[in-house]
Amino acid sequence: MSDIATLERDILGAVASASDEAALEALRVAALGKKGSISELLKTLGAMSAEERKVNGPLFNGLRDKVTNAIAARKAELGDVALNARLASETVDVTLPARPEATGTIHPVSQVLDEIAAIFADLGFAIAEGPDVEYDDYNFTKLNIPPDHPAREMHDTFYIARQEDGSRHILRTHTSPVQVRTMLKQKPPIRVIVPGRTYRVDNDATHTPMFHQLEALVIDEKTHLGNLKWVVEEFCKAFFEIENVTLRARPSFFPFTEPSVEWDMRCDRSVPGKIAFGTGNDWLELGGSGMVHPNVLDMCGIDSTKYQGFAFGFGLDRMAMLKYGAPDLRPFFESDVRWLRHYGFASLDLPTLDGGLSR
Ligand code: DAH
Repeated sequence: MSDIATLERDILGAVASASDEAALEALRVAALGKKGSISELLKTLGAMSAEERKVNGPLFNGLRDKVTNAIAARKAELGDVALNARLASETVDVTLPARPEATGTIHPVSQVLDEIAAIFADLGFAIAEGPDVEYDDYNFTKLNIPPDHPAREMHDTFYIARQEDGSRHILRTHTSPVQVRTMLKQKPPIRVIVPGRTYRVDNDATHTPMFHQLEALVIDEKTHLGNLKWVVEEFCKAFFEIENVTLRARPSFFPFTEPSVEWDMRCDRSVPGKIAFGTGNDWLELGGSGMVHPNVLDMCGIDSTKYQGFAFGFGLDRMAMLKYGAPDLRPFFESDVRWLRHYGFASLDLPTLDGGLSR
């Protein structure tokens, strides 16, 4: 067998058994590259006589074409094999369910806030808001707590540096200043709730320097204490998800209401570490309320001889603790992921009255 025939057999054999594209490329370079075996052969044509070239020219070129075609064919074959293997390994089953578990959760305070918004929206209340940094005037004076009034001592206030005109800004100690803001810009009838952040210099298991309150304000021409009781009762039924709510009213004092009433709800704490709502012989404090003081109405530009109203202020975090059984308030604001996972709510379950508040 001639040298050419041996070379052809060797190269074509190697091409046919090349196992991947890299091996095939190495063969191509070895045969057809600048210094490849076939390239070297072609270079020898130049030094040949015309006769020799006539014989060897077609022979060498034919060899080059055969090898080029064989490499192209094997390359296509290997490409198909690689693609099929990839398709088989990357199969996506589009019928699988969506991601089984979302990572973030809704904070219990946000959950309770959404629940409360749903309840009061159903009763025809709008949501009002005000700033966390508040005028001393709105937080105290216009709520019938003049400068030097002893009631200011009840609120351990965070003060912010005095303004140039001598006035003081504070971090609001309650959501009640939003009553003032609402009355100053809105004419009765008024029906709003104010959920929001409040601040006091206080820190123990049930008090944190920042906490949340829920304020309500209703102003109309014939509003009376019975309306207040009905609203508190309806709210408790919906929020605690019980039918039999028994309320107890205790006389109290707040400078911005007259008369002032604190509300308790019947509950059962006879099983240690547990609390049941609506039954038992124990009482659960809900918070303060009363008929808006005529001085407050007048200071906020509402004619107290024509209009009257009621207001209440409950602790929002406290209600989240009671309803969802969290014993300590401090972890609410510590951002511990383990606590958030345990007490948090699924992000896609928005509370609604008809769908269930706290599924
Ligand atoms: N603002 C009061 C507090 O934080 C709570 C309160 C009591 C609000 C009676 C009211 C109310 O609207 O009528 O201590």
